[in-house]
Amino acid sequence: MWRELAAVGRHAASGGYRRYAWTPADTDCRAWFREQAAARGLAYETDRNGNQWAWLGDPSAGDAVVTGSHLDSVPDGGAFDGPLGVVSAFAAVDELRARGAQPRRPLAVVNFGDEEGARFGLACVGSRLTAGRLTAEDARQLCDADGVTLARAMEHAGYDPDAIGADPERLARVGAFVELHVEQGRALDLTGHPVGVASAIWPHGRWRFDFHGEANHAGTTRLADRHDPMLTYAGTVLAAREQARLAGALATFGKIAVEPGGVNAIASRVRGWLDSRAADEETLAAVVAGIERAAREGGLRDGVAVDVVRESFTPEVEFAHALRDRLAALLGTDAPAPVLPTGAGHDAGILATAVPTAMLFVRNPTGVSHAPAEFAAEDDCAAGVTALADVLEGLACR
Ligand code: GLV
Ligand code: MN
Ligand code: MN
Repeated sequence: MWRELAAVGRHAASGGYRRYAWTPADTDCRAWFREQAAARGLAYETDRNGNQWAWLGDPSAGDAVVTGSHLDSVPDGGAFDGPLGVVSAFAAVDELRARGAQPRRPLAVVNFGDEEGARFGLACVGSRLTAGRLTAEDARQLCDADGVTLARAMEHAGYDPDAIGADPERLARVGAFVELHVEQGRALDLTGHPVGVASAIWPHGRWRFDFHGEANHAGTTRLADRHDPMLTYAGTVLAAREQARLAGALATFGKIAVEPGGVNAIASRVRGWLDSRAADEETLAAVVAGIERAAREGGLRDGVAVDVVRESFTPEVEFAHALRDRLAALLGTDAPAPVLPTGAGHDAGILATAVPTAMLFVRNPTGVSHAPAEFAAEDDCAAGVTALADVLEGLACR
């Protein structure tokens, strides 16, 4: 499975993946999922939001145990973030069959669409829609950098954007969702364990900062006469770092758009996207308020107008204690699996409000993620599959 996926959406120069929602690379990933379902004789379906499901047993029986993750990527993402959870899910089904385990509950493997939000700016669109955390109307209007709406992109990929929306009937079939994911830090590595269990996800969000200046000549405009939005933006980046450092939080400007983008011209507008995360919502709100204050003060000084729009927000998630403890117990009593929080967002976090949800993490020896160098050792991935099979067997077969 890994070999088949390896080339899909891989950028030759960077070595990273560019698997954005509703692009040809995404379509290829989806075709791969469908083939995996068929090869195992699993019943395949696409839900109204374009999420893919592969069923072992009767979906309508209810109380299903569902596992999976996503196949899309951030710009130049690694091979593991997302795909490891889907590949491991199919491999765990194979493992259960090899063990001769007899499921008492339906089992399903799922691929949630557009988890990273790399193209349309909002993360976890597939699971948000399904859980009713994003309206169909708002989703259809999301726009990519070329002005293509999500509705048009879906249509172009052969899906019906008029069908999207909350899917309570489908969620009512799910008794438990377990997402396996490569760890995106080194916390697990520091414990010496190959597999851990998630306790919580930090609250996080994305904010768009627009700095409106005045376009002018780089070679003739006196410094005193400038309204340079790049200057205000630069001060805001420094303020973000300082606010995050003081609060023990995280704040990152990882994406900007400069207009018109001439090397010999003062920009007319700089648009920067802030990603900020903290251990609790109060701290996160204070950090973002501090960054916004610094941006506005800088704007007054530089003669630059500043607008701030919150594009998304995901509250703190604490995974269901009963399921989390059950997973930890299923993974061994002699050396209990570590239970760890994470700053990364996941479909599991979105679904946690609707169904009992848990996560398994596989060791990442460098902690690098959302980058081509993301890595997990083959032995650890195999340990992840065994752990997932143990969990599915414990939940669905006993
Ligand atoms: C998802 O990977 C996120 O946390 O940005
Ligand atoms: Mn990710
Ligand atoms: Mn992910």
